[in-house]
Amino acid sequence: MHDVSEETAAIVDLVLEYSRSRLLASDTPLDKPLSEAELARLAGRTIREEGIGARKALGIFEHVLAPACISTDDPGYLSFIPSAPTKASAAFDVIVSASALYGGSWLEGAGAVHAENEVLRWLAAEFGLPEGAGGVFVQGGTLGNLSALVAARDTARRAGKNPERFAMVCSVEAHSSNKSAAKVMDVDVIAVPAGEDGILRADVVRAALDEHGDRVFAVVATAGSTNFGIVDDIAGIAALKDEYDFWLHIDGAYGLAGMLSPVTRELFTGVGRADSLVVDPHKWLFAPFDACALIYRDPEQGRRAHTQHAEYLDTLTDTDDWSPSDYAYHLTRRPRGLPLWFSLATYGAGVYRDAVTHGIELARRIADEIEARPELSLVRQPMLSVVVFEREGWTKEDYNRWSAELLDDQHAFVTPSSHAGRTNARFAILNPRTSFEQLVEILDTMK
Ligand SMILES: Cc1ncc(COP(=O)(O)O)c(C=O)c1O
Repeated sequence: MHDVSEETAAIVDLVLEYSRSRLLASDTPLDKPLSEAELARLAGRTIREEGIGARKALGIFEHVLAPACISTDDPGYLSFIPSAPTKASAAFDVIVSASALYGGSWLEGAGAVHAENEVLRWLAAEFGLPEGAGGVFVQGGTLGNLSALVAARDTARRAGKNPERFAMVCSVEAHSSNKSAAKVMDVDVIAVPAGEDGILRADVVRAALDEHGDRVFAVVATAGSTNFGIVDDIAGIAALKDEYDFWLHIDGAYGLAGMLSPVTRELFTGVGRADSLVVDPHKWLFAPFDACALIYRDPEQGRRAHTQHAEYLDTLTDTDDWSPSDYAYHLTRRPRGLPLWFSLATYGAGVYRDAVTHGIELARRIADEIEARPELSLVRQPMLSVVVFEREGWTKEDYNRWSAELLDDQHAFVTPSSHAGRTNARFAILNPRTSFEQLVEILDTMK
């Protein structure tokens, strides 16, 4: 299995050839899930005492397993938050695995960590954070939010805060991962109301800070809510730092990439005052799964909270080297920021701005089209690249049936969402290959 031989060379060739054709295919089907029973029947038993061989295993993957996985990079994938890796980033992910790179410590992965840190510094500067800001690429926004909030509480404790119960303030519209982090940390969530427009504003945050005082160790502002792409009043909330002592965390897992576009940059004023932030390259920064950039204003606060100590790790922790493991709740890690580094280095930042802008402009255009159709209405005006709308007279069952038919016909993947108890349809647009005409065709199916 480990030697270089004719057999291993043939396996590598098979896998690389498959990867090459998948990466360069322009007609990949959308695909759809099968039931567990169907998959068991079609795939058969693949793990036995004697192997079935690479050709057969790859055949099962190609003809049974892969078609039962929705292509998240399909331009018709408009649900949840799509993925649209650039060709350079997806291809480079193969190199990351092939090279057995370890990204946890400087000692083992200095070159990889250097490149990842250049990306983090570039992002930090784009977001207006001061020089010296830095962090680490973690698996996803959920882990990034948790790691940031753990650092926030640790910093509060070190500053002498010791309330009976710590609490964090966030909008009722904040992503579920923030509430999940609070559960893991056993802290209270003070979920404050957003405005009618979904925006969390400083006045309600101020009221929560006045009411809960020193119990509050962090305020989470969202830079692009998942359901609507709404950006909180970050400038107003950040200004409260002049009067109150709290850690400002920006959850920009999906939307903070919108700050790269000149069209929406201003919405994000105030991000530069954050103590920590996250943005997911596997969302709107066009990198493959899975990567979240977690950046601290003062990385030392992250390091103090997260460094693991063990006898066998002393070699790493007794130095001043920058080891990514120290900056989040993890230890072993692949250098998952490298695909983004390679792609940014290859294409330059300018085309990233254009690609983000494409999603914003397309969202605005299709929102106008929705408004022009009497049977459709926008739930809210899009701020970034998520468009949420209702079809007059439709029940939840109608939306579900319509969504299932779109997938069955391999037309598009658009799952319904809901707001204030009402079911709606939602386009999350970020794939530069998604076109206006394609979205119009989907709207036509709602007549
Ligand atoms: C605003 C926001 N925060 C956090 C997350 C969680 O990120 P992940 O799914 O990468 O853990 C998401 C996911 O969509 C998100 O949109």
